[in-house]
Amino acid sequence: MTTIRDIDLDLRALLRDPGEGGRRLAGTAERAFRDAEAYATYHRALYELHDRDEPETDCERRAIASPAYRCEERNISRVEVPVALPEAALIEAIDRQVLSGGRGQHPMIRHLFGGQMTVEEVRLFLRHQWFRTYRLYQDATDLAVNLAYDLEGAATMARYLYQEMGEDDPAGAHVALLANLLRELDVPCDPGARSTLLEEIVYLNNRRRSFRSPEIGWAFAIFYVTELVVSASHQHLYRVMRDVGVSEQGAEYYRVHIAMVPPRAKREWTFFWRFLQRREVQETFLTSLRHHLEVERRYFDAVWRVMQALPGRAAGRAR
Ligand SMILES: [Fe+2]
Repeated sequence: MTTIRDIDLDLRALLRDPGEGGRRLAGTAERAFRDAEAYATYHRALYELHDRDEPETDCERRAIASPAYRCEERNISRVEVPVALPEAALIEAIDRQVLSGGRGQHPMIRHLFGGQMTVEEVRLFLRHQWFRTYRLYQDATDLAVNLAYDLEGAATMARYLYQEMGEDDPAGAHVALLANLLRELDVPCDPGARSTLLEEIVYLNNRRRSFRSPEIGWAFAIFYVTELVVSASHQHLYRVMRDVGVSEQGAEYYRVHIAMVPPRAKREWTFFWRFLQRREVQETFLTSLRHHLEVERRYFDAVWRVMQALPGRAAGRAR
């Protein structure tokens, strides 16, 4: 596994002087927009900086990342919204982006939903689902902190986190249900799992930056599209899991989302719309959505390449 020591930015050195660390990381972030090597260095460093359970250095690590995050936000090309759109037109603009660039159109997802996946392919898909999901509640907690000044925002995020964490039973936390599913198929589900796939790291870094951004449009876009896509895809994924022999109990992770998410997403949208009536929030939202979908497509392309290279893939379904 690549560590921060291999890639020229030493985490401990950055932590000794967070001000200087922040300037160095932001310098790498700036170069990352012009240079592929700097891009990989920056994202691997950022991932090493944040993907850890280390509360004693949390404030310093956030301070180091903050100038780099702002640098990214200045460099990501903006969607221009000259005049604030009415609600129906904004929903249409979101649907258009999701329909043309969302994961539903990706060949890996079409292959998965087409019912042709082998068990090995399903296992690989789930391994990456783990990397995507097991810290999602932590990212959402950052959004909850940003919205805590707003009573309705605090209530919206409290409800989301309460449901995600299994309501009054942590054994029913969605991350615990996903771990049950993965164990049934012998897929590793360690809570300290670290990805080595650059495109996946970029996806996770982008989500974390967006959820932490003081400009809430960055977070709203990813949060909302995740909820929207979840409701559409979990019915398919539930069936795929049952088809490859997962038990009813093992597939509960997907089953619980089918009824839970659509009404929740509707309530969340009503809350977001209060903020989204402002032109500049719409612009940030649509910029974030477009960027997230591009990052996600490159990520799914990378997993799809690995999947297509699996041994014995042509042999068809294993059971
Ligand atoms: Fe969930």
